[in-house]
Amino acid sequence: MASTNTAKAFVEFERVQKSYDGETLVVKDLNLSIGKGEFLTMLGPSGSGKTTCLMMLAGFETATHGEIRLDGKEINNIPPHKRGIGMVFQNYALFPHMTVAENLAFPLEVRKIGKSEREKKIARALDMVQMGDFGGRRPAQLSGGQQQRIALARALVFEPELVLMDEPLGALDKQLRETLQFEITKLAHDLGITVVYVTHDQTEALTMSDRVAVFDDGRIQQLAAPDELYERPQNSFVAQFIGENNTLDGRIKELTGTTCVVELESGEEIDAVPVNVSNVGDRTLVSIRPERVEINPDLGPTAHTLNAEVLEFIYMGDVFRTRLRVAGRDDFIVKTRNRADQVRLTPGQKVKIGWLPEDCRALDA
Ligand SMILES: Nc1ncnc2c1ncn2[C@@H]1O[C@H](COP(=O)(O)OP(=O)(O)OP(=O)(O)O)[C@@H](O)[C@H]1O
Ligand SMILES: [Mg+2]
Repeated sequence: MASTNTAKAFVEFERVQKSYDGETLVVKDLNLSIGKGEFLTMLGPSGSGKTTCLMMLAGFETATHGEIRLDGKEINNIPPHKRGIGMVFQNYALFPHMTVAENLAFPLEVRKIGKSEREKKIARALDMVQMGDFGGRRPAQLSGGQQQRIALARALVFEPELVLMDEPLGALDKQLRETLQFEITKLAHDLGITVVYVTHDQTEALTMSDRVAVFDDGRIQQLAAPDELYERPQNSFVAQFIGENNTLDGRIKELTGTTCVVELESGEEIDAVPVNVSNVGDRTLVSIRPERVEINPDLGPTAHTLNAEVLEFIYMGDVFRTRLRVAGRDDFIVKTRNRADQVRLTPGQKVKIGWLPEDCRALDA
């Protein structure tokens, strides 16, 4: 569904900056276009500016610079309740003194919707999240997952075209998170809602989103579909932040258009795809995913391989996870599928490792 990024933009940030104190920018020159019906996730470490972006879009914070547009219209000066945006937060933020039905009635009353219409919409929203029988309860009489479903229903009850969610599943256990991840994406898709979702859980981002914007230090480091982000990270930050990653330090020894040879600190050489390195002699961090590494590989006579020593061999059921000493580092991880013919390694064993050059990316150091 990455094709949505070519659709007409529904949400646009153009050169948006934000400073809370008039000195430091916590959002720096943000440009982002989100298509109608797209599920876009902002993913990044704590303090990288994700919530700030969501708050500006919702209208609870103003941008210091730049423009935010919704469906082609500038919204910088439109108050939150007139933007037609639903919101869900991590800590539910349900009104504790109101019943579930009253909680859902609230956004409808604000929008001056009459009683009979209200009741219909409330019943429909509760059914959507499978909470039809809970209208009379108060939040304190519900489990965490049920409260989060109600928060979701309250964000959807006035049929917004855009819903913003800030770590909505952060407080829930793993199993419930996974169930709700599935339900949220399905609901959003069925209703054709555009979602901007914030999380610092990369698995959640990869599994739920059409595209993911990886934030660091107030900037988008890469904006791409999940598979592209994982398989073709554009810089070392993204390679490290998304999924498990092996890095090796080295210098560019040879560089043609599409391939390069990297000399590692151990003196050994490997082939890689040059991604954001420009000159022979440049320092680089090469990145290889643990599942793309082969142990004692059969890659042909010209392929470069590295010497490695097994430090730890962990049986995980479906995969084996081997930690190796490679080129002076002892944190190199290889994941191999547990096949019937797979050899189990023992600590101290000396092996060779290799990979296809296209799976190895020379990134910024
Ligand atoms: N109301 C505020 N006043 C002053 N500074 C703020 C305010 N809200 C956030 N900040 C600062 O802005 C920066 C970005 O914060 P933000 O809440 O957007 O990060 P985040 O990416 O959502 O992080 P987290 O994953 O921890 O929720 C941080 O340095 C934070 O301290
Ligand atoms: Mg936040």
